[in-house]
Amino acid sequence: MTAEIEKAPALLIEERAIIEKVKSLGEKISAEYKGSKLLLVSILKGSFIFMADLCRAVSIPLEIDFIRVESYDGERSSGNVRLIMDLKRDISEYNVLVIEDIIDTGRTLNKLVEILKEKNPLSLKVFALLDKPEARVVDFKPDESLFIIPDVFVVGYGLDSGERFRNLPYIAKID
Ligand code: IMP
Ligand code: MG
Repeated sequence: MTAEIEKAPALLIEERAIIEKVKSLGEKISAEYKGSKLLLVSILKGSFIFMADLCRAVSIPLEIDFIRVESYDGERSSGNVRLIMDLKRDISEYNVLVIEDIIDTGRTLNKLVEILKEKNPLSLKVFALLDKPEARVVDFKPDESLFIIPDVFVVGYGLDSGERFRNLPYIAKID
C-alpha cells in the first residue's frame, strides 16, 4: 500500500499575529460600544473561530448570533448569494457587527449587508479577518480587515478547502 502524499499548506500568518490583532480589535470594540446594545453576527462556517476569539476579547456585554450563506462554487464565489440560515430576532435595537472570515470578490458581504440593512439595525459594521482586495469584483469595503493578503487561496483558523484545514490554528496558503 502506498501512503497518500499530500503537500502541506504553507504558513502565511502565524497564530501569535492573529491573536494580537484579534485582541486589539476586541479592545477597540469594547471602547466604542460601551453602554450600547451590541450584537456580533458570525457568518458560518468560516468565521466561527474568529468569532469565538473575538467575542472573548470584548470586555463589555454583548450578544451573539449566526447566519449562514451559500455563495461558493468550488474555489470562487458564484455571485449567487443565498441566505440559508437567517436571524430569528429583531435587530432594530442592536448595534450589529458582522464577523466574516475573508473578503474575496466581495459579493457575499455586498449582498448580506443589503439584506441586514433592510432589518434596520441601529448601526451596522463589517469586520473581516482577511481581505484580498486584488480579487474584488464588486466594490465592497469593510469597516476593518485585520490582514490584507494577496490573491491566494488560504486555509486555517476556520477557513477550509473542501471542508478541510479549518482546525489549523494559523493561516496557510494552498497552491
Ligand atoms: P466572496 O463573496 O467572493 O467575497 O467570498 C467570500 C467567501 O468565500 C468567504 O466567506 C469564504 O467562505 C470564501 N473564501 C474566499 N476566499 C477564500 C480562501 O482563500 N479560502 C477559503 N475560503 C475562501
Ligand atoms: Mg465564509
